Amino acid sequence: MVFYNLEHLTQEDRQEVSGPIQDDEALFMFAIIRGMQIETVLEIGGLNGYSARNFLAAVGPEGTVFTCDVNPVAQIANNHVVLIKNGIELDPSDLKQSKIELLFFDCHDYDAQMKILSNLQKNKMLADRVVLVLHDTNTHPYQSVPWAFETTDGYVHQVVERQMVNDLVADGWHAFSLHTDSKKLLRNIPYRHGVTVLTKFVLFDNGIHGVVEPTSKRRKGIFRTIKNRYQDMS
Ligand SMILES: C[S@@+](CC[C@H](N)C(=O)[O-])C[C@H]1O[C@@H](n2cnc3c(N)ncnc32)[C@H](O)[C@@H]1O
Repeated sequence: MVFYNLEHLTQEDRQEVSGPIQDDEALFMFAIIRGMQIETVLEIGGLNGYSARNFLAAVGPEGTVFTCDVNPVAQIANNHVVLIKNGIELDPSDLKQSKIELLFFDCHDYDAQMKILSNLQKNKMLADRVVLVLHDTNTHPYQSVPWAFETTDGYVHQVVERQMVNDLVADGWHAFSLHTDSKKLLRNIPYRHGVTVLTKFVLFDNGIHGVVEPTSKRRKGIFRTIKNRYQDMS
């Protein structure tokens, strides 16, 4: 039986935290890392190490988690590299020539996070299938902090990562959000901070090449080819 040790997820049922990721969100990222066998994570914004602890548990002892924060963050394990600096000054050499497979944005500084992304891209330090994860992309159902403002979709408590998602989607990234509808009556939790995952989706290669027909015909052609293949196999 597969055993997942999730003892590091210690929040109360309501997950009413402000700052760290919520446990449901941690579980979601844990599953992405385990499912994709990701071993190298860079997080921007470490705070007290709650998200780092989850990343370390997910990547296991063979993996590496880099945490960048302007303020001191405790090193939790040997494979936890803490970089105390402003994200905007993060140098690719800080990352020991690693290819980052999951890049987690949680410091609410648009310029720093966008610069990190473009630097890593320029220096070819992102894995081909890199997964970007942005925290605090959901709205809250009420004004949970003084600076939150109302939109058609609830109260925006952090605007930076939401804007990054919009800009990156406009730039060709594909997004999926682990959001809980703020208009729903949330019975067990007061709010969901929200996590959005971005990937550059590359069409699946189904082994069908050189087709130049218009899309509708092409689709029919592809399905016919696939059907024939299955018929051939049976
Ligand atoms: C929301 S907290 C991170 C929470 C953490 N990821 C977790 O889930 O436990 C944001 C952190 O970003 C850091 N921070 C703010 N601006 C930053 C910047 N420009 N570069 C690096 N870290 C920054 C803050 O010091 C703070 O610790």
